[in-house]
Amino acid sequence: MLRWPHPKKRLRPEETTLSRSKKAVFEDVHIFLVERKMGRSRRSFLTQLARSKGFVVEDVLSDAVTHVVSEDSEASSLWAWLKGHSPSDPSKMHVLDISWFTDSMKERRPVAVETKHLIQDVLPEVSTPPSVVAVSQYACQRRTTTENHNKTLTDAFEVLAENYEFNEMEGQCLAFRRAASVLKSLSWQVRSSHQVHDLPCLGETMEELVEEILQYGRSFEVAKILSDERFQTLKGFTSVFGVGLKTAEKWYRRGLRTFPDVMAEPSIRLNRMQQSGFLHYGDISRHVSKAEALALGNIIDEAVHAIAPNGILTLTGGFRRGKEFGHDVDFIVTTPERGQEEGLLTNIIKHLKHQGILLFCDFQPSSFDLSKLPSHRFEAMDHFAKCFLILKLEGHQVEGGLCRAEGDSRDWRAVRVDLVSPPLDRFAFTLLGWTGSRQFERDLRRFARLERRMLLDNHALFDKTKNEFLAATSEKDIFAHLGLEYIEPWQRNA
Ligand code: CTP
Ligand code: MN
Ligand code: MN
Repeated sequence: MLRWPHPKKRLRPEETTLSRSKKAVFEDVHIFLVERKMGRSRRSFLTQLARSKGFVVEDVLSDAVTHVVSEDSEASSLWAWLKGHSPSDPSKMHVLDISWFTDSMKERRPVAVETKHLIQDVLPEVSTPPSVVAVSQYACQRRTTTENHNKTLTDAFEVLAENYEFNEMEGQCLAFRRAASVLKSLSWQVRSSHQVHDLPCLGETMEELVEEILQYGRSFEVAKILSDERFQTLKGFTSVFGVGLKTAEKWYRRGLRTFPDVMAEPSIRLNRMQQSGFLHYGDISRHVSKAEALALGNIIDEAVHAIAPNGILTLTGGFRRGKEFGHDVDFIVTTPERGQEEGLLTNIIKHLKHQGILLFCDFQPSSFDLSKLPSHRFEAMDHFAKCFLILKLEGHQVEGGLCRAEGDSRDWRAVRVDLVSPPLDRFAFTLLGWTGSRQFERDLRRFARLERRMLLDNHALFDKTKNEFLAATSEKDIFAHLGLEYIEPWQRNA
């Protein structure tokens, strides 16, 4: 790089006047030299030099300035100074390192501005992004894709929510689930706790939690929970198919901590579901890939059509929301033949059994009775015929092969599959209910109840004001009845 000799002597006033009068050649470039760090004499020397080469150099920082040149390498203090002294937005000017100036002098023309010349503002305005004003407290009024920009935060919030659940503090649990869901919906990454200040469902303690995580990369409380024996044990036990929180607690209170502890305890009688849960634990605790879900779709579709040519199989749950992985695969099976849906399901089960791929089946017959609707129970299970299955999936059936554990040489794995079979006229409600996510469903129901005086569940939508059921043949109909903008399945990952 060209070194600048220091001026040998102070320039006399008449010389200044002389060089000032030289005609400017590069009219659209107006340079301003920042005196800070550069010093008065060097600034004045450089000014003369540039002017003598036909450059326009402004004495004051005005709107006319296009190129600010500084020898101050500390960007933050320079930008702070510029913001305090510029009549207009300094980010509209080129704010440049002295190298741009020396290069231009050497070339005897203003060289093109390159990234290497720029002194960038290190602190881009951390104001709250404009989208904040539009964030609704209801997940069903937010669009949440599978892309989570705030995973560190939502993971921490979810650990806290789960811990509250384990301690039967439902209110706190829900509060943290809601807050995590709001953070998941953001199309931007939270970088400062101020940014969450105006978000719904995030109170002061949560703002402090966000601040702690942003500052230290983790939360002390979350770390404590994760290493807590009770939390770890309950988390482990409830990860077994068929083991709920009540059972997990019972085992914990008896002093059991591990799966072998449970197996070795003679007084424990596992039910059928739990036996299968332990038997296939390695397989079904591993996620299911999209390719595996598609393969299962083909297998079940074949079964459906072998039994009922008019049968309709629809993928639902997390995979319908565009997730790449799931803990199971969820399907709705139905038929236009009224009253045949339950028979369809039992025949599919028989077919799978005959194929030798049914490892476990818990069939729950329909208890659906329209006259008993609407259900006022907020998170009531639906009454349609359904089954919770474990199926054997073979490697050759899956494009790209199975998701296998390391060292596993089997050519098959066990996979959890849920099938639900509503009557066709209930299909839209079932599809909406089973597509999830859980948080999205909760908020759809809460919104219906609180904002519309309506009751929504997997069977029906009831208008309490009109005292009547509202019919729907598609999810769009239901959103329309609720006066909600339609949210696509892949935007329901709340
Ligand atoms: N569901 C339901 N009634 C049931 C079981 C499930 O309404 N008896 C709904 C849940 O509310 C959820 C959806 O079905 O919205 C899917 O449930 P689940 O398979 O547990 O979750 P996914 O969202 O599919 O997540 P994953 O990918 O982990 O399976
Ligand atoms: Mn699922
Ligand atoms: Mn499921």
